Amino acid sequence: MFIELLRVAGVRCVAQAELELSAGLNLVLGANGAGKTSLLEATYLISHGHSFRAGSRETLIGRGADGLQVFARVRHDEGGLVQRLGLERRAGTWSGRLDDRSLERLTDLFRACAVCCFEPGSHELVAGPAEERRAFLDWGVFHVEPEFLGQWRRYQGALKQRNALLKQDASDAELDAWDLELERWGTLITDHRARYLRTFHARFAEYASRLLPGLTDPGTRFLPGWEAGEGVGLAAQLRVVRDRDRQRQSTTVGPHRADWRPRYAGLGPQELSRGQAKLTALAAVLAQARAYRDHAGEWPVLLVDDLPSELDLDHQRLLLAELAASGAQALITATDLGPALAEVAASARLFHVEQGALRPAPPAAGAA
Ligand SMILES: Nc1ncnc2c1ncn2[C@@H]1O[C@H](COP(=O)(O)OP(=O)(O)O)[C@@H](O)[C@H]1O
Ligand SMILES: [Mg+2]
Repeated sequence: MFIELLRVAGVRCVAQAELELSAGLNLVLGANGAGKTSLLEATYLISHGHSFRAGSRETLIGRGADGLQVFARVRHDEGGLVQRLGLERRAGTWSGRLDDRSLERLTDLFRACAVCCFEPGSHELVAGPAEERRAFLDWGVFHVEPEFLGQWRRYQGALKQRNALLKQDASDAELDAWDLELERWGTLITDHRARYLRTFHARFAEYASRLLPGLTDPGTRFLPGWEAGEGVGLAAQLRVVRDRDRQRQSTTVGPHRADWRPRYAGLGPQELSRGQAKLTALAAVLAQARAYRDHAGEWPVLLVDDLPSELDLDHQRLLLAELAASGAQALITATDLGPALAEVAASARLFHVEQGALRPAPPAAGAA
C-alpha cells in the first residue's frame, strides 16, 4: 500500500501541508526545527492514533490552532483499491472518517493503513520498558489477527474490574468470577501473541544477521506475563498470587505484563551497545513490516526519521537497498542528503520543509 496524498493541518508547527507522495522513496529535507518529524508524526497518528514521540496526542495540536486534521489517500496493491482516511481533533473530540463514513471507532482507521517507523527513539524498543515492546508486538497481532482487538478489550475490561475489587477488598467468590474471565480472554490473547512472535522471530533473525553480522544467533524470546502453557490455567495462577495482589491492589500476573526480548547468543538486550540496540530495533521494525507484508500481501508504509544521523553510511546504504528491493513506500527525513541519500535522490521525490511549510522541490536531474 502507499499513501498517494497526505494533507496535514495544525500538527505542531505545520499549519498546512499537502504532499503528493511517490509510491517509492520520498525524502523530506529541512533544517532542524523545520517540521520534518511533525510530518512523520502526522502519518503515524492517522495509522496508530498517537505519535511515536512521548506525550499525549493532544500535544500534537499546533499552538494557537483550534484542532488538527490529517487526511491520507491510500492506494492498496490488491486491485488498486483506494481508501480515503481522515482523522480530526475538533472541539475537544477525536473523530475518524473512512471514505465517506464517520467511524464509531478510530481502530477501523488504523486497520486500513499500516505504517512502521524507525526513528531516534527506536532503540527504546530494545533497552526501554516492556510497555513499548508490548505495544509493538500488539500492533503486529492487531493487523494479522482480526479477533485480537475485541479479545484484548474484553481482557482489559475484566482486568479493570478485578483491580477495582482488589481495592475494595472484595470477597474471594467475587474475585473468582473475574479470574475466570481473565483466563478466558488472556489465554486467547497469549496464543495470538505467541503465534505472531513465531512468524516475527524468523524474519527478525534474518534482518538482524544482515544488520549485525558480528553478533551470533539472533532471535527473540516471548515472556507471556504468566506461566502460559504450563498446564495450570491463568485463573489458578491468579488464585496463588491473590493475597499479594490484594496488598498491592493490582493484578501482578497476566498478559497485561507480557514482554518479548530480542537476544543473541550469550548476550542480553541490556549488554548491547547503543549502536547495536539501534540496529536491533531497525531489524525489529523491518521484521514487523515483512511479517505484515507476508500476511497482507502488501508492504506497510515505512517512516525513517533523521536517517543520516541515526545510522552509519554502510547501514544507511543497506537500509536504502532493502527498501528499494522491497518496493515499499518510504518517507525519510534528513537535514542534508549526505552521501548515501545523494546516491538514491535521483529516483526519489524530494520535499523541502521550512518553518512548518512545504515547497515541492524541482525533481533532481534524471528523476523518474
Ligand atoms: N504543539 C506545537 N505547536 C507548535 N509548534 C510546536 C509544537 N510542538 C513542537 N513545536 C515546534 O515545531 C517545530 C518542528 O519540530 P520538528 O517537526 O521536530 O522539526 P524537525 O524534525 O524538522 O527538526 C519545533 O520548532 C518545535 O518547537
Ligand atoms: Mg526531527
